[in-house]
Amino acid sequence: MKILVVGSGGREHAICWKIASEVKSATLYAVPGNAGIGEIANLVDIPPDNLQEIASFAKREKIDFTIVGPELPLADGIVDIFKKKKLKIFGPSQKASTLEASKVWAKEFMAENNIPTGKFCVTDDFINAKKIIEKSAFPIVIKFDGLAAGKGVSIAQDYKGAMFFLEDIFEKNIFSSKNKRVVIEEFLSGEELSYFVVAGGDSFISLAPARDYKRVYDGDKGPNTGGMGCYSPVPMCSQELEKFIEKKIVIPTIRGLQKRNIEYVGIIYFGLMITDRGPEVLEYNVRFGDPETEVILPRMASGLLEILQAAVEGELRRQTIVWKKEAAVDVVIASGGYPGSYITGVPITGLDSIKPDVTIFHAGTKKKNDTIVTSGGRVLNVVGVGKTLKEARAKAYEKVDTIFFKDMFYRKDIAAVEE
Ligand code: AMP
Ligand code: GLY
Repeated sequence: MKILVVGSGGREHAICWKIASEVKSATLYAVPGNAGIGEIANLVDIPPDNLQEIASFAKREKIDFTIVGPELPLADGIVDIFKKKKLKIFGPSQKASTLEASKVWAKEFMAENNIPTGKFCVTDDFINAKKIIEKSAFPIVIKFDGLAAGKGVSIAQDYKGAMFFLEDIFEKNIFSSKNKRVVIEEFLSGEELSYFVVAGGDSFISLAPARDYKRVYDGDKGPNTGGMGCYSPVPMCSQELEKFIEKKIVIPTIRGLQKRNIEYVGIIYFGLMITDRGPEVLEYNVRFGDPETEVILPRMASGLLEILQAAVEGELRRQTIVWKKEAAVDVVIASGGYPGSYITGVPITGLDSIKPDVTIFHAGTKKKNDTIVTSGGRVLNVVGVGKTLKEARAKAYEKVDTIFFKDMFYRKDIAAVEE
């Protein structure tokens, strides 16, 4: 069986690793992949934004099943292109991907379906945005409407900060977009939770929740990143809370999509804030989380491929997922300067002599001659698995201590939580 994974991060490495471990007969391909993925899959050198070329490759190579990691190819319609060529692919259509691609669409969808979320208003006019800000309490959250690689959200602490971001959007046009709509949203405080379901038409199956660390520095300081570490399970998320999330958020979302005649096959990732009022949706994503996938998949005893194929075939109802009791903790090692500018091509040492219960999922790495060098901001995910979060955390940090590349850094407080 030939499987193609689209993407090049730790998430895609974890997906390849899981499928390689469960389907021994699978031949894996990744577009474009990274150095770690290259150890278990054939790397295909096609630019990740050339969707027609990726589909032609899949047709030519008779790929049986394709899994898409990042949001951009989904929002650009990779699933529609594959389907036209009668190729099996896991992920939402371009239309369904609007759930992530437009913050305005998502907020209006939530309001229409009574899905709990922060109060908000929408405007595409600078003067009007200013007026709203003048009347607001702080902090306030401003979200650019389109995909912005994690840079489209600003939590403004005061009027000056809010104006700064609005000027960036409306005057400096930093997102180089004709669409200048923004959502101005109530700031929600509480604990964040990443909640995932595999959706296949009218049915869904929940995955294990995870907790992501978005800010760059210890103690949740500094700017937002793609995620600096993660853990699962999440002690704060009781079975009761999970049931509540399914009832009040997941099911209304699936029903709401059906009401809009959107057939949704793929992951729905609910970015939640657990507030005093209960769980509220911060955002939807239409894909697996990164680094959440790197802690969820090592805990999954059931087969991943079988579940994703069942979603595509409309047979999700027959599936259940068995989870291991163990905990998993991921510490992300990043290039100095990330999430701002950083250098690449730096040699990495200490990746070998891996102990059982520790896995390194590569993100921004590539092979140069026989050396593995950095090629991105987030470089490695070091994942420890143990009986408790404490044990998993100790294993991850023990391995992190043996890895080195110039100017590397990582957060020291990942999964430092009460169990
Ligand atoms: P989003 O892309 O909408 O998930 O926003 C990125 C991050 O900004 C979230 O993971 C939160 O940490 C933060 N955030 C977004 N919306 C809010 C909100 N209404 N209140 C507080 N924090 C938020
Ligand atoms: N970990 C955040 C994301 O995948 O968007």
